[in-house]
Order: sequence, then C-alpha cells, then structure tokens
Amino acid sequence: MSPLVPAAIIGANLSVHSPAVSFTSNWCDMNPDLSKLQPYPFEKLAKLKAAVTPNAALEHISLSIGEPKHPAPAFVQQAMIDNIQSLENYPTTKGMPELSQACAEWLEKRFKLNAVDPLSQVIPVNGTREAIFAFTQAVVDRSQANPLVLSPNPFYQIYEGAAYLAGATPYFLPCLENTGFNADFDSVSDEVWNDCQVLFVCTPGNPTGSTLTTDDFKKLIALADKHDFVIASDECYSELWVDGKQAPAGLLQACAELGRDDYDKCVVFHSLSKRSNLPGLRSGFIAGDAKIMKPFLLYRTYHGCAQPIQTQMAAIAAWNDEAHVEENRRLYTEKFQTFLEILQPVMDIEQTDASFYLWPKTPIADDLFAQRLFEEQHITVLPGSYVSRTVDGVNPGAGRVRMALVASVDECREAALRIRAFVEKLNSEAEQA
Ligand SMILES: Cc1ncc(COP(=O)(O)O)c(C=O)c1O
Repeated sequence: MSPLVPAAIIGANLSVHSPAVSFTSNWCDMNPDLSKLQPYPFEKLAKLKAAVTPNAALEHISLSIGEPKHPAPAFVQQAMIDNIQSLENYPTTKGMPELSQACAEWLEKRFKLNAVDPLSQVIPVNGTREAIFAFTQAVVDRSQANPLVLSPNPFYQIYEGAAYLAGATPYFLPCLENTGFNADFDSVSDEVWNDCQVLFVCTPGNPTGSTLTTDDFKKLIALADKHDFVIASDECYSELWVDGKQAPAGLLQACAELGRDDYDKCVVFHSLSKRSNLPGLRSGFIAGDAKIMKPFLLYRTYHGCAQPIQTQMAAIAAWNDEAHVEENRRLYTEKFQTFLEILQPVMDIEQTDASFYLWPKTPIADDLFAQRLFEEQHITVLPGSYVSRTVDGVNPGAGRVRMALVASVDECREAALRIRAFVEKLNSEAEQA
C-alpha cells in the first residue's frame, strides 16, 4: 500500500492540480493515473445542495443534468420490442452493416458530404461518452515525450479523464465571452501544438452552446496537418439548433468543402441521446478517417463494447427519421424563448448558438447562486466553475451557471419565473448593501 500522488505534469497549463481522490490507508495499489480523476461535477453539486434545506413548499425543478425529458419516439421503442429476440445472439463489435449504412447516409445528407464508406469510416458506439473515452486510449501514443490532449474549458469532463488514463496530460483552452465562448486557437503556441496528439472540440458546446464554423474547422485542419494531431469533434448536440437559425456546421463538412474525402486526421462523434431523446438507449457512432477507425475497431474488440442487436435496430429507426427531431427543436426553441423573455430584463442571459443550454452570468458567485436558488426556489442548476478548471488563476466557468432546458415547457416557464423572483431579490439585496 502506498499513498498515490499525481505525477508531475510537465507542459500542462493547469496552475492548480490537487489529487481528486482522497487517499486513505486502505487504498490499494492500482493504476496511479486514477488518482488524477476529479470528482464528477454532480458529486460536487450534491454536496453543495446537501448543506441547505430546500423550500419544501415548491416542487423541485431540475435544470442541472443534460438528460432530455421529451418522450422517446414510440417507433424507436417498437423497433426495440420487435427485435427483442436478438437477446439470444452476440452482437459484433463492428455492428450491423445496416446501422453503419444508416449513419453514413444520415451524415452525407446532414453535412453535405460526397461519400462516407459505412464499412471503413463508421463505427457504432454505446453512446459517445464511452466512445470519447475509448478513442483517447486508442489514439494517444504514450511513448512520446509529452503527449497533450487539448480540450475546451469549460468542458465535458470525459475529455480530461480519458486523457489522464491514456497517459496524456490535458491542456485546457479557455472559452470566454470575448471569443464567442470558443477557444482562441491562434493563441496556442507551436510548442503546444507539436505536443498535441488529440484536439477535442465540442460544437455545439456543452455548457456554452457555442458553435464552430466550417472556416474555423478548416483552420484547425491546417494545424492538424502542420503539427500532426487528430481532431476529435464532439457533435452530440449538432441537431439542437434554434428554429430559424442555421444548422451547426460539422468537421466532416469542412473536410468535404476542402475535397478531403478521406477525412484525414478527422473524426466526429454523434449520438442519439440528445437528438432523439434516447439517453437510455446508449447509441451513437464515430465516423471519419479510416486509418484511425481500423485500429480503433481492433481496440474495441478487446474492450468488449459491442452494441446489442435490438439497440442497433432501434438506432436504425431513429437515424432514418427527422420528424421527431424537428419536434424536439420546436420544443427547445419555445423553452429558450420563454426563458429569455422572462429573465433578460433582470439578468445577463443570452441565446446560445445551439444545444439546450443557457449559460448566464450570475450576480453572485456561481456556487452560492446555485445553492441559494436550490434553497429558496427548489431549482437545481450547475455552477459553471464545476465544469471548468482554473488555469493561470482564471476559471472560465466562474460567475456563470449552466441551465439545461430539459424540463417540460410548463416546468421551464415556472422555473424561469422563480429564477426571476430570486434574481430580483438578489438585486435588491445588492442595492441595499
Ligand atoms: C458534450 C457531450 N459529449 C458527449 C456526451 C455523451 O453523450 P452520450 O454518451 O449519451 O452519447 C454528453 C452527454 O451529456 C455531452 O454533454
């Protein structure tokens, strides 16, 4: 038994790095990289909430977890039921050709691609979370001197954990208001790009809802060519854009515009969880450069993450339908409008480019805001600093909260009214102070 201490981080841009796991004398000798994993934001949130008693006169409304609450499409449920006898069969890691075909056709149509080869350029995955994690394990070359995995900050926490367990160091790119909540890629040094092995981008972003354009992607592709790294574009919110706005661009779309139909060094992650209200199906896919897909498939064979056949049949039905996705967008658009109408007069809150998140500024510290909102109005939101890391003394999520508009339209209206009353109280407290 030896107490584990995080290894020295050379070339990382984290100014504060404390062991995430509190070690006790009964901690076994295990992979020391496990000690670098931070508690998940919802664990921290649970502690924050446990310190207060919520207003029991009000029903709880959760705006914290990014779990869609619109109904799962009935025809998808039916496809699952119709194929339930597949429980008798082992699925293959590569998945059914029909599913890869449906994903390839969907990609071609949605992102105006010339061609996607379902056999060599698409792999079904059990949700993008596991795929992002597994992909990083397969791609990072830990024999290099200082492997870096670049990611936005704030960010989806899997990028960070995946980097650590792959033997790499996360390098965070702040996504601040002055750059439209996207990273300022121009400010990254050549030295960092040279050590970069994987660049994660998230568009539309969680939690900021910001999007990258095809021009942004083209600049990144040029950098990937120059410095030889892989671009991993997490596009799991790509279908949730506000009605009347343009559909967000994708990395493969930029490749197609460049005539780069082999998608060299580029991969995208897509999911049915948010697009189709199917977070429990655990189904998505990864697509792109066949030179990366092939060894990644080999990795997955050992990892043991084949998607059950009945899940694949349900997924095919979902990818082949757009009507339910349009209805989803209509509902999120209505909720965005309701929130903004009620809250914009009292707080700094802007329509995000896409996703189902709002990312408003808080008039007091974000964790205190979340705690008091829970106590006084029985509403849960996620403090922005819980989904960001402090780098060079700056936490890009500080002073903001993430509101996920996943509750019903009526609940969202009720939540917005309660948040307004809460903010008005805070504002009057500030005036009196
Ligand atoms: C940015 C981002 N990427 C990936 C995922 C994983 O989604 P899933 O595993 O359901 O496909 C999530 C889930 O919340 C997310 O917010």
